[in-house]
Amino acid sequence: MTSEHHARRTGWRSLRPWRGGQPRSRGRRRLGRAFRLVAALALAGGVYTVFAPGVSSAQPLSQDAQDGQALYAVNCASCHGPNAQGVTNRGPSLIGVGSAAVEFQVTTGRMPATRQEAQIEEKPPQLSDEQARKIGQYIQELGGGPQLPEGNDLAATGEDAIAQGGELFRINCASCHGNAGRGGALSSGKFAPSISGISQRQIYAAMLTGPQNMPVFGDNQLTPDQKREIIAYLENLKHDKDPGGWNIGRVGPVSEGLAIFLVGMVALVFTALWIAGKS
Ligand code: HEC
Ligand code: HEC
Repeated sequence: MTSEHHARRTGWRSLRPWRGGQPRSRGRRRLGRAFRLVAALALAGGVYTVFAPGVSSAQPLSQDAQDGQALYAVNCASCHGPNAQGVTNRGPSLIGVGSAAVEFQVTTGRMPATRQEAQIEEKPPQLSDEQARKIGQYIQELGGGPQLPEGNDLAATGEDAIAQGGELFRINCASCHGNAGRGGALSSGKFAPSISGISQRQIYAAMLTGPQNMPVFGDNQLTPDQKREIIAYLENLKHDKDPGGWNIGRVGPVSEGLAIFLVGMVALVFTALWIAGKS
């Protein structure tokens, strides 16, 4: 064993080229190697600090983030962990979800959740928009992630934008939310809610963060301009008296077809009875 080991070592050594007897140049080469190693380590460390989530927490938190941290400790830490790293069977890690996800979840009243269920639903918010923003700031400074643009008005303007947004909505969203955004059922007790009575920031945040069973529409899938066009379309729907489709059970074309079918059948039966009565 030892001899084999030794053989391998000497074999390995013998593979190295003979460097001649110049101790000075070898010393310099060693120094060069050491220098390169240090440089590589420094570079790797730098790259790591730039890209690693959570490293920014080494920096002191801003005042808003500190306020947010205090609110977080009281309202969220029991399920998401003291440092937002998540708690098994209670809540997922919030590292990297960004302020956009926090704002969406808290302002729609989904968070703080009260219990585990198939789909945590919208409720009257328990925290103010200001508090939601501060918790969002804390989560943002802790681990980065998607952020919403500034301002409350995130809709593109103009007829073209509305038409374009309608097209994008039909391609990307209607399969779950219905053509008129009234929502629809998904599998196993889950559903896509109606998109009404919800702010432009919340619509933007839903696209950007993909809550629960909704897919994420990052800026590669839908550019910020396209998101604004979709919002313009949805805003326009609000003012539009007849967005198309009947408001039957909010289930969309299936229930419409069924209703037409039932009405037709009843009419047929009555016609048949009437004819039978006459003869
Ligand atoms: C009772 C437990 C509970 C409490 C309290 C709670 N959460 Fe959650 N939270 C959850 C669960 C469970 C989910 C995962 C929901 C899902 O995707 O099915 C979640 C999801 C989230 C998400 C979405 C994560 C993502 O990947 O997009 C955010 C953001 C969030 N919570 C923030 C908060 C904030 C902020 C608070 C405090 C104001 C809070 N939560 C309080 C249980 C909780
Ligand atoms: C695969 C199905 C699916 C697709 C596609 C989808 N959504 Fe959703 N959406 C959902 C589900 C499920 C929820 C509910 C998530 C929750 O309760 O956390 C949701 C929630 C939302 C909400 C929040 C509604 C509220 O009342 O809180 C908005 C806004 C929204 N979606 C917009 C969109 C837009 C815009 C698109 C297209 C770009 C889209 N969705 C595509 C399934 C989908």
